[in-house]
Amino acid sequence: MCGIIGYTGPAAVKNILLEGLAQLEYRGYDSAGIAIAKDDGSIYIEKQTGQVANLKAICDQADDDGHCGIGHTRWATHGGVTRPNTHPHQVGRVTLIHNGIIENYHEIIEKFDLKDQLVSETDTEVAAALLNHFYDGDPEEAIRKAVQELEGSFAFCILFEGFTDRIFCIRNVSPLVASSTPEGSLVASDITAVIKYSKQYFVVPEYHLMVLYQDHIDLFDENGVKAEPEILEVNWDVESAQKMGFPHYMLKEIHEQPEAIIKTITPRLKNGLPCFEGEGIDDEFFKNFTNINVVACGTAMYAGMVGKAIIEPIVKVPVSVNIASEFRYSTPLIDKHTLTIVVSQSGETIDTLAALRLAKSCGSRVLAIVNVKGSSIARESDYVLYTHAGPEIAVASTKAYSVQLSVFYLLACKCALVRGIFDETKGREFIDNLYKCIDAISGVLEHKEIIEKAVEHLKDAEHAYYIGRGLDYAFSMEGALKLKEVSYVHAEAYAAGELKHGTIALIEEGIPVVAFATQDAVYNKTISNIREVKARNAYVILITKEDAEIPEGVCDLHLTVPIKDDLFTGLPTVVILQLIAYYTSIARGLNVDKPRNLAKSVTVE
Ligand code: M6R
Repeated sequence: MCGIIGYTGPAAVKNILLEGLAQLEYRGYDSAGIAIAKDDGSIYIEKQTGQVANLKAICDQADDDGHCGIGHTRWATHGGVTRPNTHPHQVGRVTLIHNGIIENYHEIIEKFDLKDQLVSETDTEVAAALLNHFYDGDPEEAIRKAVQELEGSFAFCILFEGFTDRIFCIRNVSPLVASSTPEGSLVASDITAVIKYSKQYFVVPEYHLMVLYQDHIDLFDENGVKAEPEILEVNWDVESAQKMGFPHYMLKEIHEQPEAIIKTITPRLKNGLPCFEGEGIDDEFFKNFTNINVVACGTAMYAGMVGKAIIEPIVKVPVSVNIASEFRYSTPLIDKHTLTIVVSQSGETIDTLAALRLAKSCGSRVLAIVNVKGSSIARESDYVLYTHAGPEIAVASTKAYSVQLSVFYLLACKCALVRGIFDETKGREFIDNLYKCIDAISGVLEHKEIIEKAVEHLKDAEHAYYIGRGLDYAFSMEGALKLKEVSYVHAEAYAAGELKHGTIALIEEGIPVVAFATQDAVYNKTISNIREVKARNAYVILITKEDAEIPEGVCDLHLTVPIKDDLFTGLPTVVILQLIAYYTSIARGLNVDKPRNLAKSVTVE
């Protein structure tokens, strides 16, 4: 939620900020703004509603004066999408940008009598006014005093009058990374905005005060003692965060799935079997828990649903899958015998992070499946299995989901091996099947024209239903979310057998139903459910395995996945669902990479 960039150095800052904002735009695109400390000490502020391109258009006319500045792309929380609500906010001698939510901003307005200084509806401007209230020429002191008053999450980058060659930063929960490079010092919400200048960076520790100078960065802990940052290195390059000839990031990222899965599973195999010793997890770890608690949000949570459907029947331990925003305020029945698995692409989702902390406080060990290196969730978990998907820029998660599924397959296999359920031969066969999924995905991608046929029907639909049983039901949840989020077609996933308990009342002539029947054990049952919707004149898009025998008249369009083993149909099936959502969005003329109202990284509750 919201993207932050700051730079101070020898280069002209304006284009560095605008380019950085363009890289961070997936974090929020309601409005954008920059503040530049001009060489005469004055501060130039420009802001605009809408995408960064709108801001760029007006900034292009401005001169390049200024070598220190901050920029922000907003995902609105407090106050509408208006110019006054756009960051940076300036109050008196303080100019700042903010990612997060100040929960007690009403109390602060009252306590410090700030009302008359505010022109926006934002919580952020209150923080600027509070800092201005405490500022008497010592920025660090003002920040320390202000932060003691603030409740909530924040990542601030601040310019103080009198110190316009440097940027002051502090954060709690909301992410911030920084990098000191020969070309100047940078701070940003995430590494995508920094990687052009350096592959080395550090995560700003919470409540540490950071000051960016042109040629170095100072970091101080809560007691004001100088701290050494822990330098990390990204293992992808600038091209990974670009479209590379694809019209959209989403399509590029869908195509990157075979490679992302290979990169995620191959380093974790030893003699053809899963091994997590590289991550410091020994076999004993997988023997001891009695139940698994998966916690995540959105697509990551749906990956957990598939994880449950894979692990439970093989490992025979109960797996519960919880929505993090619900779990964090619940009284969970977990303890030291529970393995909690938190799943997150960004590693910064605030609800997942809070759920992780709750699970730990109950004595549960926490294993994170995370894509972004050094992220908060990765740092706070007991163990981390990084997915190696590279940067995922499109707001809709695609490759991150399939690598999360791959890790669940590895975990299921590992648990089965250490618990004596699989012998080595069975384990290797399982891993071979996982590799077959990679070829199957490539097969789906090669024949994607057929998927465009499904879209001919979906593009004008108002509603769509996704149905399946067992594992198919788990995939259908992700399929429905994908369609909703990028095409704005209202889509719901239902367990196929549950339809007749209410939902079937909604089925009428022509309504699209995407039906999955890839599971032999329930194939006939699912086909019966499909007949029920077909009898009510639904338009049925059926997905089965290649060798399935399809009864006459049961569907209008038939798509297949080239996989034989039921347990492994998920990965290629999901690619079909992603493509259906992608092409539907394009056919409806929508911004597929930046769907309305969304942001990539959900760092507010
Ligand atoms: O970064 P995370 O994986 O924790 O994000 C969780 C959800 O916000 C995310 O999966 C969201 O549902 C995606 N936009 C779905 O495509």
